[in-house]
Amino acid sequence: NGYRVAVVGATGAVGTTMVRVLEERRFPVRELKLLASSRSVGKQISFRGAQVSVEELTEDSFQGLDVALFSAGASVSRRFAPIAARVGCVVVDNSSAFRMDPHTPLVVPEVNPHAVRHHQGIIANPNCSTIQMVVALKPIQDAVGIQRIVVTTFQAVSGTGMKAIQELRRQVEATVKGEPLPQEVYPHQIAFNCLPHIGSFLDSGYTEEEMKMVNETRKIFEDPDIQVCATTVRVPVYYGHSESVAVEMRKPLEVQDAVALLSKAQGVQVVDDPLAGRYPMPLDAEGRDETFVGRIRKDISIPNGLVFWVVADNIRKGAATNAVQIAELLVQEGLL
Ligand code: A2P
Repeated sequence: NGYRVAVVGATGAVGTTMVRVLEERRFPVRELKLLASSRSVGKQISFRGAQVSVEELTEDSFQGLDVALFSAGASVSRRFAPIAARVGCVVVDNSSAFRMDPHTPLVVPEVNPHAVRHHQGIIANPNCSTIQMVVALKPIQDAVGIQRIVVTTFQAVSGTGMKAIQELRRQVEATVKGEPLPQEVYPHQIAFNCLPHIGSFLDSGYTEEEMKMVNETRKIFEDPDIQVCATTVRVPVYYGHSESVAVEMRKPLEVQDAVALLSKAQGVQVVDDPLAGRYPMPLDAEGRDETFVGRIRKDISIPNGLVFWVVADNIRKGAATNAVQIAELLVQEGLL
């Protein structure tokens, strides 16, 4: 009873959280294999009170396994996910490698759970910024339809990985001490700064991260007509992405009705009492699995407009928790 599970990238910011979430949610794990690069061989990670040794990822790592959660970057996924799938180990991939592949479902369990049924061995986990936005938009899309979204993000450094978390901490410490700032990960200082630059710039002037929000949103909602204009910004926050989302709806929806829909939406918690100083903030979302929505108000610049503020822990709902929820869905649907 239970499944043989691997976590690929087990020493990383997302991978360590995947192990924790598997434990917290009592995923039926019979055997857990932790995989990373040769640099990490022998490192110990605790799971259900026992220490599990990290092993080196190789082409033979997936024999006899049922499911593997990948979060070691797109190049590792591109090389190893098909190898795993070929030996019958279903892959839930947190990288961007397969998200837009037409044969790979792109799944947020609260939004399009049905999509897992068509998997061919690999299921993709969307980009962290897309996940929290579509969780919040799902009840609105279902009720009145969405025509256009204008979104600006405020993204935590943990999305870049462990090295970026260290870089922010070291830059803050160096600033306080008046020392020269170490800078390896980002193209500019991140401490006390905002960088409107996530991923590479494309010829269009948009970044890769911005276009992920456009393309992934359309794929998840199975609606190629939704227009999305995104600006993605890295901010000096450790955990939790924030987003300002302005939605143009296909039909009218009163603010109070939007609040009612969001209040009962799966995975959403409305925090919206601005006069009492209550609205979502990344420090409150850290360590939580819900998507927090507040500042819900009419977009006064267009007829059927709604605007709100949405925050979620990018490492949990934006990555690890969503991946484990996909694995749970595979179990429920008998797809492992
Ligand atoms: P390692 O710690 O051995 O380098 P983060 O996103 O926090 O930077 O973490 C990336 C994760 O992906 C780490 O667990 C890292 O392992 C793993 N990883 C990176 N490159 C490889 C690779 N070539 N083979 C296996 N694991 C890798």
